[in-house]
Amino acid sequence: MLKFTENEALATRHTFAISTFSRYYVETDDTVALFDFLNDNKAISASVLIIGEGSNLLFRNDYPGLILHPVNKGIRIFDSEKDSVIVQAEAGVNWDELVDWSVRHAYGGLENLSMIPGSVGAAPVQNIGAYGTEVGNWITEVLTFNLVTGESKWISNESCAFAYRDSIFKSDEYNNIIVWSVRFKLQKKAQVNLRYKGLNEALKNIHNPGIREIREAVIKIRSSKLPDTMIIGNAGSFFRNPTVTYKKAASIKTDYPDVPTYSTENPDRIKLAAGWLIEKCGYKAYRKADAGVYPNQALVLVNYGSASGDEIYELARDIIESVKSKFNITLEPEVRIL
Ligand code: EPU
Repeated sequence: MLKFTENEALATRHTFAISTFSRYYVETDDTVALFDFLNDNKAISASVLIIGEGSNLLFRNDYPGLILHPVNKGIRIFDSEKDSVIVQAEAGVNWDELVDWSVRHAYGGLENLSMIPGSVGAAPVQNIGAYGTEVGNWITEVLTFNLVTGESKWISNESCAFAYRDSIFKSDEYNNIIVWSVRFKLQKKAQVNLRYKGLNEALKNIHNPGIREIREAVIKIRSSKLPDTMIIGNAGSFFRNPTVTYKKAASIKTDYPDVPTYSTENPDRIKLAAGWLIEKCGYKAYRKADAGVYPNQALVLVNYGSASGDEIYELARDIIESVKSKFNITLEPEVRIL
């Protein structure tokens, strides 16, 4: 199946729900049909943007090229070992559908990543993470399809170069490469992960919580802090949490003894919470027309209805300037701005 349209409305095709259009739009579950289409339509295939469920994008303008949306579905057990299973999911599967499937089958690993908006194909690109784990900890390999050469290739976990909200799939050399399938190694005897403080606290009255309880608790925490993309347009955390030197963190601690800090893999650097920095700059619950900062989590910018991409972008820029002038820290967007 391959569906091609022109001037496709994007408001319902990305979670910021901004009224924009894509000049060309293709939905497909078939790499052969896709490769043929791209070869037959070389002129419009020059600038391709691949999107999943559009949960990490901000459109400032209409997209002038071709948006490509994979809709291949399916979750299956590819291999089974004594203590683990290899599960293969296709790019067009909704991420939380996979997490729900894994919890229902009692395979451990993905439960802390419950309720993250988006698709399986997009998950490795920004290495989605929450509540003490990242998807890169569970992926064994990723099947890619090269739009220019038509070649399919499995990329091993090591070659994916997973890092905090980053992977090789974000690099320029992967511009013409689409993630088509992902394989995960999940545990048959699930080891629960309660490293995230808020999750541990939420489950403190439950004896030996299992992956079902973890999923329920994560859903509860997320629902209390983060806006439902079906109701209020947003793309989750708008900025990355910044890392700074110990010296810098200590100087902030002098003025704000309660500043939350997190250790990182780099012993010289410490991570701060961007939401905390933004709140301290007075932006929590800020609203100008329909562009705003979510009242329960200052890291999330929201579209209350008819905000334009530029209005959200200007708000993000004001926040960056304000955090820079108060803390001398430059926040970087996590969301892809187009
Ligand atoms: N905080 C504030 N004010 C705020 C928001 C946060 O003071 O308005 C403080 C909190 O009290 C807490 C700290 O900042 O002490 C961290 O907050 P939280 O636990 O809510 O997590 P986060 O660092 O703001 C990150 C991820 C989220 C993920 C959560 C839970 C990034 C950019 N964001 O947020 O991911 O769900 O941790 O693991 O790393 C996303 O990427 O879209 C996303 C939602």
